[in-house]
Amino acid sequence: MNRLKINFLGVDMENPIMTASGCFGFGMEYKDYFDPNELGAVVLKGITLEPRNGNEGTRIAETPSGMLNCVGLENPGIENFKKVILEDIKGKLDIPIVLNINGKTVEEYVELAKIVEEIDEVKMVELNISCPNVKDGGMAFGANPEVAGLVTKKVREVLSKPLIVKLSPNVSDIVQIAKIVEENGADAVALINTLLGMAIDIKKKKPILGNIFGGLSGPAVKPVALRMIYQVSQAVKIPVLGMGGINSTEDAVEFFMAGASAISLGTGIFGNPMLPVEIKEGLQKYCEEEGLQNISEIIGAAHI
Ligand SMILES: Cc1cc2nc3c(=O)[nH]c(=O)nc-3n(C[C@H](O)[C@H](O)[C@H](O)COP(=O)(O)O)c2cc1C
Repeated sequence: MNRLKINFLGVDMENPIMTASGCFGFGMEYKDYFDPNELGAVVLKGITLEPRNGNEGTRIAETPSGMLNCVGLENPGIENFKKVILEDIKGKLDIPIVLNINGKTVEEYVELAKIVEEIDEVKMVELNISCPNVKDGGMAFGANPEVAGLVTKKVREVLSKPLIVKLSPNVSDIVQIAKIVEENGADAVALINTLLGMAIDIKKKKPILGNIFGGLSGPAVKPVALRMIYQVSQAVKIPVLGMGGINSTEDAVEFFMAGASAISLGTGIFGNPMLPVEIKEGLQKYCEEEGLQNISEIIGAAHI
């Protein structure tokens, strides 16, 4: 018996394991390791209205227990996505496809959401509000509660598909932001995106990353992710999609117990491409050993 089946935002999934945006390409890149249809759903690389080349210079730096990246949302843009990528993955992926959307202005997000609304293959939308807001001096949408609420509201107005708002952890009060996006129409929140950091080349006496700053991900961010999921899941009524440093079945169980209804795997896949399959098998075994009919029985189990 499959004890991992879930229904997330009205979408039936064989298991609660998704991929984290930017860590699984456009769904087929890891096909030589495992059949991507073994996942519960696939979250694709972040898309923007226009094609983007991403950041210049070094984009990745290793850190103890994690990595810094400043890829800068390199992607082919929504029209090329539709023409080339979607055509390629159509028929090959029969699991729900989640599209991660990004913009520099509220208008860009809205325009993109209108296009995505018409793409039948996209079953859910993940709104990444960690992007710099050009009208707000480059401060991330997700760092300002009013702007986070506004972009959610405007996208909601044009989008009928399930809307997951992906929060930035680079804020002092994550609960406040989660509540605001819930009030403005989010169907779920995803957390966490990467934590802003940097690394310095001591020989060159300069920052290593071309963008100076980058996003920290991997095992180092797991305690922060767990804490935020624990807080947010108790403060909002909508479900939480949890991610940040999941590297094992035990990590995944912690995320459910903190309050996540489903999980996304990111940096962990770079080191171990089989991680999604291993965690899927591990969670099924965990349920059997613990006498759980379904994994959802432990959601929020650690709440005090
Ligand atoms: C190389 C790389 C690219 C990423 N690109 C995106 C992206 O396009 N959109 C997004 O919302 N998050 C992006 N992220 C953030 C991840 O989806 C995830 O939220 C974060 O890495 C924490 O999970 P992890 O520690 O399991 O990787 C990216 C992360 C990495 C490492």
